[in-house]
Parts: sequence; structure tokens; C-alpha cells
Amino acid sequence: TLMKRGYHDSIVEHYENPRNVGSLDKNDDNVGTGLVGAPACGDVMKLQIKVDDDGNIVESKFKTFGCGSAIASSSFATEWVKGKTVDEVLAIKNSDIAAHLKLPPVKLHCSMLAEDAIRAAVSDLKNKQEKKKSV
Ligand code: FES
Ligand code: FES
Repeated sequence: TLMKRGYHDSIVEHYENPRNVGSLDKNDDNVGTGLVGAPACGDVMKLQIKVDDDGNIVESKFKTFGCGSAIASSSFATEWVKGKTVDEVLAIKNSDIAAHLKLPPVKLHCSMLAEDAIRAAVSDLKNKQEKKKSV
């Protein structure tokens, strides 16, 4: 069956088998950490990316304290960013995540958390790399 509890399979699948749960070393210069909250509900998401020396994302991990759609969005986001450059992932829109997971309209803000977390992780990484250059 395609529907379960009114949700599309892919949300349920990512919720029940989330990919890449965990943490990377936030003090690693090649790791960017994004920590964001959703004003609408108070849920919180931490998403981290790790780049190689060419700026390609080789690893991504998340921890989300939130609803099933937020967990599914972050799980999918960590899969999606891998293999991309930091500039490429800035183009990821929450509407892409929502469309992929077929989130219902009331759950759009949950995917927004993933877009915000990706952006925050990239800006943390860029700040670190700027600092490294200036020392
Ligand atoms: Fe997970 Fe598409 S549902 S990658
Ligand atoms: Fe808060 Fe989904 S209800 S992130």
C-alpha cells in the first residue's frame, strides 16, 4: 500500500529508518554545523556536513528533536547533500524536499527546517574556512 497513516511511503520509510543519525566532530575544520529551530512548533534540528579538500560533501549527519516529517526531511537532506559541493546544496529548496517526500501542506514548515539547517551548516563551514585562511 502506498499510504500508511495518511502519509506517503517515503516519509514513513525515512521516519522508521532514518539515514545518517548522529554527530560529526564540530571542531573539525572541514565540518559545518547547522542548528535551527522551527518557530511554528519549537522543534529543533542539527545537521552537519563534512567536506573533502576539494569542497565536496563526503558525509552528513543529523539529530532532530521534532515530528516525523522533520525527521524524514533531515534524513532525506543528509542523503541528498552527499556528493554535492557546498554551493550546490545552497540551491536545495524546502519545496524540493517536501515534493520528494510528498509532505502534506501543513507539514511544509518541517521541510523548511531542513533547508534552514543546510544553509546554517554551509555558513558555519564557510566561516571556519575564512578564519583558517586569515591565520
Ligand atoms: Fe528516500 Fe527518496 S524516499 S531518497
Ligand atoms: Fe515541528 Fe514538524 S511539526 S518540525
